[in-house]
Amino acid sequence: MHTPEPGLAQPMALPSTTPPAGSPPLSGLGGFTPESFGVVGFGRMAQALLLPLIDSGQVAPAAVRAVVGTVASAVRLEAQYGLVVATDPAQAWQAPVVLLAVKPQLLAAAAEAAQGIPVPVVRRPLLISVLAGVPLARLQGLFPGHRIVRAVPNTPALVRQGLTGLAWGEGIPAEQQLWVRQLFAQVGEVLDLPESQLDAFLALTSSGPAYVALVAEAMADGAVAAGLPRALALRLAHRTLAGTAALLQEQELHPAQLKDMVASPGGTTIAGLRQLERAGLRSALIEAVVAAAERSRELA
Ligand SMILES: NC(=O)c1ccc[n+]([C@@H]2O[C@H](COP(=O)([O-])OP(=O)(O)OC[C@H]3O[C@@H](n4cnc5c(N)ncnc54)[C@H](OP(=O)(O)O)[C@@H]3O)[C@@H](O)[C@H]2O)c1
Repeated sequence: MHTPEPGLAQPMALPSTTPPAGSPPLSGLGGFTPESFGVVGFGRMAQALLLPLIDSGQVAPAAVRAVVGTVASAVRLEAQYGLVVATDPAQAWQAPVVLLAVKPQLLAAAAEAAQGIPVPVVRRPLLISVLAGVPLARLQGLFPGHRIVRAVPNTPALVRQGLTGLAWGEGIPAEQQLWVRQLFAQVGEVLDLPESQLDAFLALTSSGPAYVALVAEAMADGAVAAGLPRALALRLAHRTLAGTAALLQEQELHPAQLKDMVASPGGTTIAGLRQLERAGLRSALIEAVVAAAERSRELA
């Protein structure tokens, strides 16, 4: 197991949740104003989405009805974030908007828990599912009373640099669509996509941070092997990745253009690139994204 060195690799830093005084339940998001927000599964992804919204005052902590699987994590999360966190699913399923964020393996259990709770026929609740690979058709079969949107977010939402792909189910009114888009826009960029593209989107954007983190760690390891202290190597690796991404985006460069700009004839960079090609880095990354997309389809 990886043991972080003291003061270096920190656990995921979540925002504090001190609510601004008098914040409304779910403010300023479209014309739709649900009075409460159910969260089924308040784990890493739900926290990455909701905590920045709570922190900025967009969602009042009192409006959140979060449900987790175990009393131990309910107690811990209540103490940590000052929210009411329960294990009784009815807490969340009675809300007009529900974020479904359990592991896909727990979908059937979550659906069973929802079944006993009456759903208004006139004002059908909105279900936002972030479950990887679970298609709208299956969700609609399990939650027939809900209107459903599939969302594929990623963890950089924690620092408001997220990406979220949305695929819409049937009959979601325009103001609710706007509300959902604005909700995810608080933590990054939002794209509407055909559902058929969500697996590939997830493979790149949701799994991608793990691949990039691996690259950062490996580059830092290389720098340590070449003589830099560990802390400095990690900081420089992160900065190099962030700076490179910013340069590619801001100057709208194709990656090959940037690579050619940096690699001078007979120089250091081309020596390194030659090694990367020999080791198959490019192919490894291609296959990693394809494998993640295939796994997402398997989960369907
Ligand atoms: N992480 C990502 O980057 C990412 C990206 C896109 C989509 N997703 C999707 O997000 C979903 C959640 O992933 P995650 O990484 O956030 O998982 P996670 O950290 O393991 O969180 C799962 C949460 O579900 C709770 N839970 C377990 N059983 C439950 C039940 N019967 N009823 C209600 N809640 C229950 C858990 O509570 P306990 O801790 O008490 O068991 C925990 O709070 C997955 O479906 C995944 O596909 C994740």
